[in-house]
Amino acid sequence: METSFTKLVGCGVPIQLAAMPGVVSVELAAAVAEAGGLGMVGVPLLPPAAVEALLDEIAARTRRPVGVNFLMPFLDPACLDVAARRAPVVELFYGDPDPELVVRARAHGARVGWQVGSVDEARAAERAGCDYVVVQGTEAGGHVRGRESLLPLLARAADALGVPIVAAGGIATARDLAAVLAAGAGAARIGTRFVAAAESEAHPKYVAALLAATAADTCLTETFSGMWPDAPHRVLASAIAAAERLPAGPIGEMQLLGQAVPIERFSVIVPSKDTTGPIEAMALYAGESVGSVTAVQPAAEIVAELATGAERLLRAARG
Ligand SMILES: Cc1cc2nc3c(=O)[nH]c(=O)nc-3n(C[C@H](O)[C@H](O)[C@H](O)COP(=O)(O)O)c2cc1C
Repeated sequence: METSFTKLVGCGVPIQLAAMPGVVSVELAAAVAEAGGLGMVGVPLLPPAAVEALLDEIAARTRRPVGVNFLMPFLDPACLDVAARRAPVVELFYGDPDPELVVRARAHGARVGWQVGSVDEARAAERAGCDYVVVQGTEAGGHVRGRESLLPLLARAADALGVPIVAAGGIATARDLAAVLAAGAGAARIGTRFVAAAESEAHPKYVAALLAATAADTCLTETFSGMWPDAPHRVLASAIAAAERLPAGPIGEMQLLGQAVPIERFSVIVPSKDTTGPIEAMALYAGESVGSVTAVQPAAEIVAELATGAERLLRAARG
């Protein structure tokens, strides 16, 4: 399934794993890459040496492309340099597309992308020198830059941009993938469905809550704003209700570089397998795609199901 995006980044199928810190293990990123997708990891709160070590671990598992994603509010430019020297793809999210950062990362040899939420931002990302742009609709799980739903945004971005576009938000099935490819995307970026991958680091209670939920159980909120204020995100509404029932203060602990770190009520931190405390009251990010997340499956199976299914649907649509 060759597209403008697969050719750009050197993967085999038009599927990008969303970088989801606390969810994406090295195993998950490598499994998606080995299955033909673009693997991704996120590195907020890690120092440059830890980013190097993470990239060593990935290199020991796969030679296929795995990119590194940065959240602008947590960006350490030294980590960007490390990633851009070693990874084929470096990507940024949240904040205005910044030509200096794009030029800096490209100078090290990486392809650079930016996830955006509007056509104006998409144009700014292209002007900043990005090799590709991810357009994110309001259906997306996690932090949501978008202010409109994916298909109208994608359609207008496809008319406006010359660089490959990745579509994000609410995509979980072969039909969803076929739809965005037909509408002009070079790939789909998928988050929520991969939270329920067998290789995911997400806490089992988080995964169980996703499997039981439908799109109507999600909502856009600013509730989980600890460490990252004024940034809307889509979560399971049940997590908001559970968190509001708790007193303020630390509610659990997470592991960061071998150290136990407290998690405050309303923290942005997603619960991983080794997180302690009331998991149901933490940031249970979920896209509107969640209704199509009905089983835990190996990442390779998810990639194959989506890629072969979308190819068949697109062929059938041509008659
Ligand atoms: C648990 C979770 C964590 C996320 N973390 C990030 C992140 O660190 N950087 C980023 O660019 N996007 C992040 N996203 C958003 C994704 O890039 C993407 O827009 C979204 O997952 C697409 O919607 P979907 O979840 O319905 O597939 C996250 C999404 C989820 C579900």
